[in-house]
Amino acid sequence: MKKNGIFITFEGPDGAGKTTQALKLKEYFTQKGISCLLTREPGGTSIGDKIRDILLDTENVKMSAKAEVFLYAAARAQLVTQVILPALEEGNVVICDRYVDSSFAYQAFGLGEDTGFVLKTNEEATGGLYPDLTLLLDVIPEDGLKRQQERHTKGAEAPDRIELKDLEFHRRVRQGYLFLAAIQKERVLLIKAGQGEEEVHKKVMKAVETLLSTRVIQG
Ligand SMILES: Nc1ncnc2c1ncn2[C@@H]1O[C@H](COP(=O)(O)OP(=O)(O)OP(=O)(O)O)[C@@H](O)[C@H]1O
Ligand SMILES: [Mg+2]
Repeated sequence: MKKNGIFITFEGPDGAGKTTQALKLKEYFTQKGISCLLTREPGGTSIGDKIRDILLDTENVKMSAKAEVFLYAAARAQLVTQVILPALEEGNVVICDRYVDSSFAYQAFGLGEDTGFVLKTNEEATGGLYPDLTLLLDVIPEDGLKRQQERHTKGAEAPDRIELKDLEFHRRVRQGYLFLAAIQKERVLLIKAGQGEEEVHKKVMKAVETLLSTRVIQG
């Protein structure tokens, strides 16, 4: 089970700035000479990447909500076993761009799957491994989706199956995240992500430095 490492996750609706902030945080650790692994969900392993392709494929419109829960959980189980736990056991910092809370927000709140089922499935998938700190970037769906569209226009990639869901779905996802922040205050820090990247990064750093001050990590 988890030993010396520190496990940090980024969460939030589509286009909130998770990947942007995760990269900035990794850069901070790298500059400090602290061993840090950045990974993402779904994916992060070759098996997980294949599951990611199934999950995000715009042709898979008939995917059942339960199948979606299990597929995310399967990719997560692989990532925890193959990547996250070994890195934590060696005392590394692990940053994950999305993790279990995404299933709480997207499959339970967004799709309306039973919350108990989603939580239990993920408990099994992760062996009960929760992050030390979750940075929840909050943005209204209109703004998040607009940011994503701008990113797509820049030519990065086409919208995926989840991004193409309607505005109401994305509103429910955001409500799920806000509910999570309210009930998991010890672990989840809500950061308003409508502000500029540097402002968000400062808030991320404040929380991370507070966490680091309570923990000894290897260089
Ligand atoms: N604080 C910010 N203010 C304005 N634009 C931002 C901010 N943070 C990120 N962006 C821009 O918004 C777009 C989406 O950011 P990013 O890809 O980091 O979001 P994400 O949460 O990882 O999205 P996804 O859910 O699609 O993975 C990018 O083009 C990025 O440059
Ligand atoms: Mg991203």
